[in-house]
Amino acid sequence: MITEEIKLKVRDIVGSENVLESSVDCFGYSYDSSFVPMSADNVPDLVVIPSTTEEIAAVMAIAHEHSIPVTPRGTASGRTGGCIPVQGGISLALHRMTKIIELDERNMMITVEAGVRTVDVYNFCAEKDLFFPPDPASWKYSTIGGNVGENAGGMRAVKYGVTSNYVMGLEVVLADGSIINTGGKAIKNVTGYNLTQLFTGSEGTLGVITKAILRLIPMPKVRNTMQLMFPSLDNACNTIHKMLMSGAVPAAAELMDRISLQAVARHRKLDINPSIEACVVVEIDGESNEDLQKQAAKIDMIANEFEVAEVRIAASQQEVDEIWAIRRGLSSAIGAMAPNRLGEDISVPRDAFPKTVRLIRKIAEKYNLTIAVYGHAGDGNIHPSVLCDLSKPGEEHKVHAAVDEIFDAALSVGGTLSGEHGIGITKRPHIAKALGESGINALKMVKQAFDPKGILNPGKVW
Ligand code: LAC
Ligand code: ZN
Repeated sequence: MITEEIKLKVRDIVGSENVLESSVDCFGYSYDSSFVPMSADNVPDLVVIPSTTEEIAAVMAIAHEHSIPVTPRGTASGRTGGCIPVQGGISLALHRMTKIIELDERNMMITVEAGVRTVDVYNFCAEKDLFFPPDPASWKYSTIGGNVGENAGGMRAVKYGVTSNYVMGLEVVLADGSIINTGGKAIKNVTGYNLTQLFTGSEGTLGVITKAILRLIPMPKVRNTMQLMFPSLDNACNTIHKMLMSGAVPAAAELMDRISLQAVARHRKLDINPSIEACVVVEIDGESNEDLQKQAAKIDMIANEFEVAEVRIAASQQEVDEIWAIRRGLSSAIGAMAPNRLGEDISVPRDAFPKTVRLIRKIAEKYNLTIAVYGHAGDGNIHPSVLCDLSKPGEEHKVHAAVDEIFDAALSVGGTLSGEHGIGITKRPHIAKALGESGINALKMVKQAFDPKGILNPGKVW
């Protein structure tokens, strides 16, 4: 319960115009991109939209004093309900914190506020020939704070790694309102615990990330995109595997199965040859066109060993953009194929990718469900999407049983429940399977140390 007196204090801190209170205004802050059904239970009591770290610190101090839940939020592109305020309280929306504070070209680092969009960081650096590689499918609207909070991945993780590989330092407001700075610009830094990496991927449960120092690398001089069509899903997977083993490491290697392709065809009104079982999209980059040609030739050769039906090398930037627009829009295209969809995010060792895809197919058959399989095949991160109609009797039970088996399949090959979307609320019931009781207890000890009153994003992760 947030009293009028508390509301008044919060208004004084951030300005009345940056506090939303009516249930209509607050409703927009009750859901994200996770397909968790909208519910009046998840509407925050108050939405607070600060513009500085000091404002956040002051709001946190009040929340701490009165034990009010606070759920930080970027632009709600998350897939697991991470920013849904399941226990009400304050939705702390950071989308006004959009300052690019410094581009330090000599150290190849950029310091940004949490609300800056990922694509804006990319573009800003690209102008100086610097490269910020993490590129989640949602990069045109996801924010750096959210990406760090979830340790987002993306397409280019194959060659360049995920968000955590680029986070050098953070400014964080702790549960009691104190402000700390972790890490920094020193490449080597073992002073104290590695809190930077602890906050990265902590899903808003340990502190509010307000600023990030991000590492950059030189921008590759040239890049291009290849699209490979296969009549066999196994052969598509095997091509990717062999490509990586042979040293022709592409920046991105994405896979879409037949059902995903059907979704694309329907969404974009395209004709796709019905004999095609899988499409692989590869981004190659390098220092010269000659270098690209060599990589493309090697990939072409490997794909031919595995009976590729068609190899297309994009002939213009427009073609590149079209291919990636299809991939980035895939999740929405698949979602449009059925009344409901449950999109998962398992991650397995690279060599287990083909086997895991086969296991998912078996699960789909067993439960008589349509499960589209696509994802970041180059790094073993698969997005199985269960298409369903939850209004049908028994369907929900069936879908959950199938998803449970998908998690078992991932664990059985040495993989895990989430590669890039986090646990949030949607995977919470399953986390014990992956971490065990003592593993979860260790997480709880960390939480207890940082947030003894349990006010930061409560109801998430375990
Ligand atoms: C993607 C998101 C769902 O890869 O992670 O499309
Ligand atoms: Zn993804």
